Order: sequence, then C-alpha cells, then structure tokens
Amino acid sequence: MTELRVVGGDLVPPSSDRRHLITIADLERGDLERLLATASSFALSQSRETKKLPTLRGRLVLNMFYESSTRTSSSFELAAKRLSADTLTLKAAGSSVDKGESLRDTAQTLAAYEPDVIVIRHPEAGAAQFVADATDARVVNAGDGKHQHPTQALLDVYTMKDAFGRLDGLQVAIVGDVLHSRVARSLVPALRLVGADAIQVGPPPLLVPSLCEATHDIDAIAGADVVYVLRMQKERMLAGANFVPSLREYTARWGITPERVRDGQRVMHPGPMNRGVEIDARVADSDASLVVDQVRSGLIVRMAVLYDLLTAGPVSVEAAVEVA
Ligand code: NCD
Repeated sequence: MTELRVVGGDLVPPSSDRRHLITIADLERGDLERLLATASSFALSQSRETKKLPTLRGRLVLNMFYESSTRTSSSFELAAKRLSADTLTLKAAGSSVDKGESLRDTAQTLAAYEPDVIVIRHPEAGAAQFVADATDARVVNAGDGKHQHPTQALLDVYTMKDAFGRLDGLQVAIVGDVLHSRVARSLVPALRLVGADAIQVGPPPLLVPSLCEATHDIDAIAGADVVYVLRMQKERMLAGANFVPSLREYTARWGITPERVRDGQRVMHPGPMNRGVEIDARVADSDASLVVDQVRSGLIVRMAVLYDLLTAGPVSVEAAVEVA
C-alpha cells in the first residue's frame, strides 16, 4: 500500500507562532496562496482509498457552534479527523449555554482541556476575537454574526480556481442579501487579494456600496464569470424591517433562473439554498452549478487551515506525496 506524507516545500512559511484566522484581513496574498496550495495537496490525499493522514495526531480541535450549521460544522469535524486530530464538538443547544453560561465561561471551561484550535461560530460579531483573547488556543472564525466567515471565502476562491484555472481578472457577481452576509464581507476582500473583481447586485437596501461596486440591475450579471447567489438571511434582519416588498417580487427581479445564466457562466451558493426563491432548482442542479464542488473544497480547505495554524510550515504544493 502507498503511504502519504507531508513534506516541506519552498512556499513562504507563516510568520509568527500563535496565529488565528478571524478575518480575511489577517491574510496577505502569500498566505492565501499558501493555503490554496496546501489545500490542493490535501485534495490528492482525499482521492485515495485511505484518506486519513497522521499529521495532527495528538492535537485537539474544539468546535463550538452557537448557530445552526450543516456544511461548516461537518467539514471542520471531518477535516480534523482526516488529519488524525482529536475533536470535541459543542453545539449550544443541549449544552450549559442553554442554562445561561456566558461565552467566556464556556470557552474557559473547555480551554481546560488545552485545545490546540478552537473553531467557533456565533451569532455575534466579534465572538471569535473574544475567544482568541480569552484562551490560549488558535482560533478559527467559522462565522460571527454578519462580520466575517473567512474559511468560506477561502473555499470559494479555491473552487473558482479549480473551475477556471485562474483567479486573476475573474469577474464575480454577488447577488442578493449582501447586507446581512458575512460570506460577502469575507469573499470580496479575498477576491481582491488574488486579483479578481466583485460587483454586488440586488435590492438597494440589501447592498453595501462601501464593499464593492453595487447595482440593482440584474442584467449586470451578464459580464460575470461567476454568479454567486446569497440567501435572504431573515434571522439576521431586524424584526419588522422590510427590505423587499415580497419574496415573490424578489424572485421575479433577482432570482437566478436558467434564462438569466449565460453559457460558460458558473453559479455558486454557500448554502443553505432556498430553491425557488434566490435560485431556481433547475440552475442549482445544472452543470453550471459549483455548489457540490464548494462542499468538497470546504473539507480540504479546512484541513489546510488547521494544518497551517498548527505547524510552522512551510508546506509545498507537493505536500502529500506518494512514497514507495
Ligand atoms: C452561510 C453562513 O452561515 O454564513 N452558510 C455557510 O456557512 N455555508 C451563509 C448563510 O447563512 O446564508
């Protein structure tokens, strides 16, 4: 049987000892390139029959999820397991959080197990930084309120590179509820770092003009290589606020239907999708859709992030190589 091992390479190593991934602003272009290269090395390991690497044996990854999650929580857990780390997953429902325990108390209680990495998702902006300040662990932000979701941006950029073979000059149209989206707030600066361009399209009250060029005109997606669709994030909207007249009208004006997708364009969505609202089922299930690829990228990109935070680097594109 062939064995996989991680080897050093010549990409620039990460700079300091205890690092976190809280916002895309934590990264420079070289960091992002190193993470993408590490992820593609791990992609190789995931195409084998035996998918587990011994790299993080004996390390502890603690997942704290204070908000619903399917893709993000499952991929972080699997990523840690595929690297042989121990994992502990805390979901707020069913834990002492139900009994009113504060984030500081919960984080410090679990920090007694000396986790190497804490992955946290929380409805409040700033929660990941708070845990980084309150514990000795490296912290990965898995989504804090409408602030940031950096690993989502990394997996999206990885997926685009895989689909198009390049990032430089790529045009991405982000369609929908940008105002409440931590995904958009991470994706736009990540695209900028790699020389790609973003515009946002949707109802004006749901756009953030300070982020990148914004328009209400759905025809503006015609020039994009990628149509990146966002859900109406109702749980993050202020109670009583009316951002669109009705979902039916939203769908009519901004819904991504087969008629609105031109040949050669690819469609992405971070999930969860509301079929029939922001995206037509025929688009979601078409060959243009990269949604399943995004989920697959999520695993290897999160393996790369965990690996990167826990090793001194450097790691090369050939990180996972076959040996006799
Ligand atoms: C996103 C999130 O939770 O920020 N989903 C995800 O992580 N895959 C997007 C959303 O909630 O709409």
